[in-house]
Amino acid sequence: MTTLKNKIAIVTGSSKGIGAQIAILLAAAGAKTIINYANDDAAANDIVNQIKSAGGEAIAVQADVSNTEQVATLFDTTISEFGKPDILVNSAGMMINKPIAETTDEDFDRTFAVNVKGTFNTLREAATKLNDGGRIVNLSSTTTRMMLPAYGTYCATKGAVEQLTRVFSKEVGTRGITVNAVSPGPTDTELFHEGKADDTVERLASMSPFNPIGEPVDIARVVAFLVSEEAAWVTGQNIGANGGIA
Ligand SMILES: NC(=O)c1ccc[n+]([C@@H]2O[C@H](COP(=O)([O-])OP(=O)(O)OC[C@H]3O[C@@H](n4cnc5c(N)ncnc54)[C@H](OP(=O)(O)O)[C@@H]3O)[C@@H](O)[C@H]2O)c1
Repeated sequence: MTTLKNKIAIVTGSSKGIGAQIAILLAAAGAKTIINYANDDAAANDIVNQIKSAGGEAIAVQADVSNTEQVATLFDTTISEFGKPDILVNSAGMMINKPIAETTDEDFDRTFAVNVKGTFNTLREAATKLNDGGRIVNLSSTTTRMMLPAYGTYCATKGAVEQLTRVFSKEVGTRGITVNAVSPGPTDTELFHEGKADDTVERLASMSPFNPIGEPVDIARVVAFLVSEEAAWVTGQNIGANGGIA
């Protein structure tokens, strides 16, 4: 991929899974990278160490994306440690798989708080704190195209993320900032496997002509393109990175 030398990147939810792989690729391309996470200090520090061992620059910054003040501090810490950010990737997310009939108010509120308010909080900060010519990628999900039972609340949050993406691309486009969504299909991470029996995983995998489920790097490569100089003409889009599942 092309160089991201002199670029500064915030990747939310990058202590593990897809976000971690995105952070590793952006740092390998030269970006000074913020590893944001909610709880798992050890996992975040491990990704920082992996990046540093490979010759890159990264620091871990804890912040719950659903918390307005903590997200402001995430951006301010980025500016004080590395400088004004050029790239924001929103990978922090959560999923509770339950039919709507069994979904509690707490399930609904927490999923919206992390997935929607979390994205909103970072976009609002980016509106004033991201450099001109910057890049924003929000992680949505191919489930918004699939009508899978038990994904109602999760899909609703990702539908909201897609709409925030489209509208925000018009609001900051005049500064040369692109805003896109990437929608993974089933991808081999903790979030995907939690609570799923083997036959469910196999059924979802078989919906892709490539069969096995995706790896985090399959998604990270698409994000890496969207944050590159070459993707300057792509904005307001939602790219399926899903092995053709939908
Ligand atoms: N995996 C899939 O099949 C799939 C498919 C479609 C879309 N997606 C989307 O892709 C994104 C990444 O998913 P993943 O599978 O990589 O998930 P994951 O492996 O469960 O990792 C989630 C990451 O988000 C962080 N996080 C969770 N809540 C947070 C919060 N409130 N504030 C800050 N960080 C928080 C976690 O931090 P801690 O380490 O502290 O827990 C962790 O780093 C999500 O938006 C997800 O909805 C995933």
